[in-house]
Amino acid sequence: MIDRAPQETIPTGSVSESLRRLTQFSREIGEITDIRAVAERVLSGLSETAQGRQGSFYLSAHEHTNFRRLAAQGSDHTASAPPTLAADHPLVRQLTQHRQILDRSAAPHAALDGPLQPLDGLCASIAIPLINRGRLIAFVLLRSDPASGEPDPAHREFLTAMAQSAANVLDSLLIFEDLHQSQTLMRRTDRLRSLETIAGGFAHEIRNPLTSIKTFIQLAPDRKDDDEFMRDFSQVVLDDVYRIERLIQEILDYARYMEPKLTEEDVNEIVSSCLYFIDVKARHRAITIEKELAAELPRVMLDRQQIKQVLLNLFLNSMDAIGESCGMLRVRTNRIMKPEGDVWVQIEVEDTGCGIPADNLERVFDPFFTTKHGSEESEGTGLGLAIAHQIVRDHRGDIHVQSVEGAGTTFLIHLPAIV
Ligand SMILES: Nc1ncnc2c1ncn2[C@@H]1O[C@H](COP(=O)(O)OP(=O)(O)OP(=O)(O)O)[C@@H](O)[C@H]1O
Ligand SMILES: [Mg+2]
Repeated sequence: MIDRAPQETIPTGSVSESLRRLTQFSREIGEITDIRAVAERVLSGLSETAQGRQGSFYLSAHEHTNFRRLAAQGSDHTASAPPTLAADHPLVRQLTQHRQILDRSAAPHAALDGPLQPLDGLCASIAIPLINRGRLIAFVLLRSDPASGEPDPAHREFLTAMAQSAANVLDSLLIFEDLHQSQTLMRRTDRLRSLETIAGGFAHEIRNPLTSIKTFIQLAPDRKDDDEFMRDFSQVVLDDVYRIERLIQEILDYARYMEPKLTEEDVNEIVSSCLYFIDVKARHRAITIEKELAAELPRVMLDRQQIKQVLLNLFLNSMDAIGESCGMLRVRTNRIMKPEGDVWVQIEVEDTGCGIPADNLERVFDPFFTTKHGSEESEGTGLGLAIAHQIVRDHRGDIHVQSVEGAGTTFLIHLPAIV
């Protein structure tokens, strides 16, 4: 919230001066990328022009069911301006229908129960709508000094122009935010989907250590004086408990959505952790896993959970491609040098599955491209590789595929190393 001193009257001045101010205002808000900061700047700009002393900025929220106060100016304004206003509040309805500035000072003697009444109810003297594509996306409420008198009509024009410019900037920021949210949702859905695929393996994996713990508890009362038994078995049990703990932690870390966080990581360790996820499933399906991890691999700045998501997608695709026959999944890591001399880490995921027909090779990274049209359960979304591609690009890396139909497929991921 901003607390500003009462403003001096700012004359609109000549047309060129107005244009200059409008351009400067538009440029300023256009450079801000944070919605709240835009709200604060728009509020202060409009308030300066309208000689408002106190005010609030409201933005459409929750699928347009209400408007939320995003910025306020003047500490006592918040008392009369509530944190949210419903979409069917009389003031919001007025602004939505008429899409024009409501100004009490332009009609100081208008009927108290007339169209300006909602303004009075909120102790405001002016409401400025921000309209984009015919929709009210935000509005500003201001209370100006009663002594400031009749408004200059040029001010109204100027305020409308400022509000339009602000609406354009906000609209593009809101679209960007929506896009970001749907991408996040897509990634999360994809992540949970791969988790669902490997969950069966986890249940199985936990069952073995649980059996050994149960056995120990059953035998312990009779064997409590057998020191060797107690010492050896309790070590086994402890290892099993650690194993269960690690599995649970892996699942939790993977399933939980976290803001992307880049940390310095050992790619070999991430590869091993992902192979650990699919190990049981692979054993059940007679798929041999070969792991060739380069010694002294340089470290990489990456988001651990996202890169895990990429690798799991590739591993699960390979297992699908191998199907019910036996086959091999080989994962290699290497340090490579690009022609420009930069050091990269390469992850190679090779399988002996059905391969990809040449016609499909260019399309496998397209969103929703899938050849998996089985039952509802085994239906592919075609998002796995699209998301993998996006994540690798976000890491300033690249991902490629080579395949021979009927023989197998290799995916290569390159990530810039820390040197
Ligand atoms: N290792 C592979 N071998 C053969 N075909 C592959 C391989 N990896 C991907 N593909 C092909 O690329 C398509 C797209 O893969 P992607 O991971 O994006 O989606 P999907 O696996 O079909 O669906 P989902 O990931 O939701 O299960 C697959 O349907 C398959 O035809
Ligand atoms: Mg897939």
